[in-house]
Amino acid sequence: MSGAASPPIERVLFTEEQVNARIREIAAAIDEHYRGRDLKMIGVLKGSVYFLTALTRALAIPVKIDFLAISSFASARNSRGLVRIAKDLDEPIEGEDVLLVEDIVDSGLTARYLLQTLAGRAPNSLGVCTMLDRTSRRLAPLPIEFRCFEIPDHFVVGCGLDYKQRYRNLPYIAVMKPGV
Ligand code: IMP
Ligand code: MG
Repeated sequence: MSGAASPPIERVLFTEEQVNARIREIAAAIDEHYRGRDLKMIGVLKGSVYFLTALTRALAIPVKIDFLAISSFASARNSRGLVRIAKDLDEPIEGEDVLLVEDIVDSGLTARYLLQTLAGRAPNSLGVCTMLDRTSRRLAPLPIEFRCFEIPDHFVVGCGLDYKQRYRNLPYIAVMKPGV
């Protein structure tokens, strides 16, 4: 790593190979569930971009993609679901089969807010696909149709997940060093 500081990680939770293998499995399940339907995947910027890209490339069925961005009113992890849409979708979703793609569902408040908002636009169906699911911190119960991994209560980075906007591009999922 010529000169550059190594990322402040304690341990790798899922290797690049494990993540990719799991993405292929989820893609196969999505293929099966949505075959013959009109699937649109909606990524939540910026964290889900890496996952959404890998996932859609592993799909066999045709898929449309769109993105939205949210901004939280407080610090990322303790925002208590006080979010608003900072960048909306480019296209309507009326009548479409919509899958909201998240990097991680933690408290569930962000996903619940987004699901409520999207449900008001009359999609044919609406589901959630998340790379990581931390059910131990869930405040808002919410159905998750597809998920790659359940994770313990440690802050993680990589595969789109950031710490202060860094480490999204790590090809594995890692636990941050405590105290960082
Ligand atoms: P929520 O608590 O389910 O609303 O999740 C809110 C957001 O917090 C997620 O979309 C992530 O952007 C961020 N987040 C939660 N846990 C982590 C983590 O371990 N690493 C990086 N970002 C996280
Ligand atoms: Mg996020």
